[in-house]
Amino acid sequence: MSMSAYRSRIAGTGSFLPENLITNKYLETLVDTNDEWIQERTGIKWRHKVKEGQYTSDLAYEASIQALQEAQIKASDLDMILFATVSPDQVMPNTACVLQSKLKAGDCMALDISAACSGFVYALAIADQFIKTGPMKNILVVGAEVLTPYVNYKDRDTCILFGDGAGAAVVTRAQDDQDSIIYSHHLHADGEISDLFVLPAGGSKVPFSQKVLDEEMQYVKMKGREIFKHAVRTMSKCCKEALEYNGFTPDQVDWVIPHQANVRIIKAVAYHFGISMEKVVVEIEEMGNTSAATVIIALDKAIKDGRIKRGQNILLTAFGAGITSGSLLMKY
Ligand SMILES: CC(C)(COP(=O)(O)OP(=O)(O)OC[C@H]1O[C@@H](n2cnc3c(N)ncnc32)[C@H](O)[C@@H]1OP(=O)(O)O)[C@@H](O)C(=O)NCCC(=O)NCCS
Repeated sequence: MSMSAYRSRIAGTGSFLPENLITNKYLETLVDTNDEWIQERTGIKWRHKVKEGQYTSDLAYEASIQALQEAQIKASDLDMILFATVSPDQVMPNTACVLQSKLKAGDCMALDISAACSGFVYALAIADQFIKTGPMKNILVVGAEVLTPYVNYKDRDTCILFGDGAGAAVVTRAQDDQDSIIYSHHLHADGEISDLFVLPAGGSKVPFSQKVLDEEMQYVKMKGREIFKHAVRTMSKCCKEALEYNGFTPDQVDWVIPHQANVRIIKAVAYHFGISMEKVVVEIEEMGNTSAATVIIALDKAIKDGRIKRGQNILLTAFGAGITSGSLLMKY
C-alpha cells in the first residue's frame, strides 16, 4: 500500500479546555431558547470560554505541553509546528510562531492552517507527508480555537453551538518495531458553497470600521440547516472513500472520530456510513463545537480514558467552513 520510505505515528496527544463554562441555562438568559431544545437538537450541555487575557496560543500551549511530555519529545526537537485555527491570536504573526516562542521550541518551520473545522485533519495529513517523504522527524500538530469573540450572543442559531478549546498531537517518524501508520488521507474543498458559513469582517474585503460594529459583521453568519445536510452527506462520503481506498470494511474500523458539530450530524453520519454509534467517539456534550480542535480533543480524551488503544484502526473525518472536508485513516 505505502511505497514511502517512512511511516508516521502519533506519539503523544494533549487537550485543554478553559475553566469558564457557558451553560444552556445561562444561554436561556440571553436568547429565546431552552436547555431541553439545545440538548435534544445539538447534544450540547455546555461550552468552555477563555478568561480575560487567555488567547488561542495559551490553550494550545497547555495541550502541546501534554502532547510533548507523552511523546517524550523536547520542544527543541520539533521540526515543524502546524497550527490549525480560524481564530488566531492575531492575523499576523501566525499563531504557530507565537506558540513556538511560548514553547521555546527554537528554530523550526511554523505555519497556521486555515481550514476551519477540518483544520486538524488537514494539518495531520500535511504532517504525515513531511514525515513520509523524509525531511522531518518530529511535528507538533495543533487544533485550537477561541471562537467565543466571534459569536453573537443575540443569535440563537449560533450562540448555542460554539466554544473555546485546544488539542495537540506530536507526530513522529515510526521506529521499525512500532506498527503505527497513517494509511491514507483524502482532503476536499468546495468553494462554490462558501456562503454557508462566513465570518464577514476582519479581512481585506471588510476591514474593521464603525460600520462593521453597527452591522455586527464581526460575528459568524451561518445557514444551519443547509450546513447540516452538507455535513452529513460529505462526512459519510469521506468515510466511505477512506475505506474504499484502503480496501477496508466498516467492521475493520475500531473507532470513528467525526468533527463534533451536532450530535444529530454525528448519528446521521454513523447511520449512512453503516457503523454502530458504540464505535463513534462523541465528546460534544461538554464542549460544543470548537472547530479545528474538536477532532483532536475527542481523540485525546478517548486515548486518555482507555477507549482507544495502540494497534486499533481510527478513522477521522471532518467538515467545516470553506466548505472543507476530509478523512484520515490510521493505525494508532
Ligand atoms: C443550527 C441547528 C442546531 C438548528 O437545528 P435544526 O434542527 O436544524 O433547527 P431548525 O433551524 O430547523 O429550526 C427548528 C425550529 O427551532 C427553532 N430554533 C432554532 N434555534 C433555536 C434555539 N436555539 N432554541 C430554540 N429554538 C430554536 C427554529 O426557529 C425553528 O422553529 P420553527 O419550526 O417554529 O420555525 C442545526 O441546523 C445545526 O446544527 N446545523 C449545523 C451547524 C454547524 O454544524 N455549523 C458549524 C459547521 S462546522
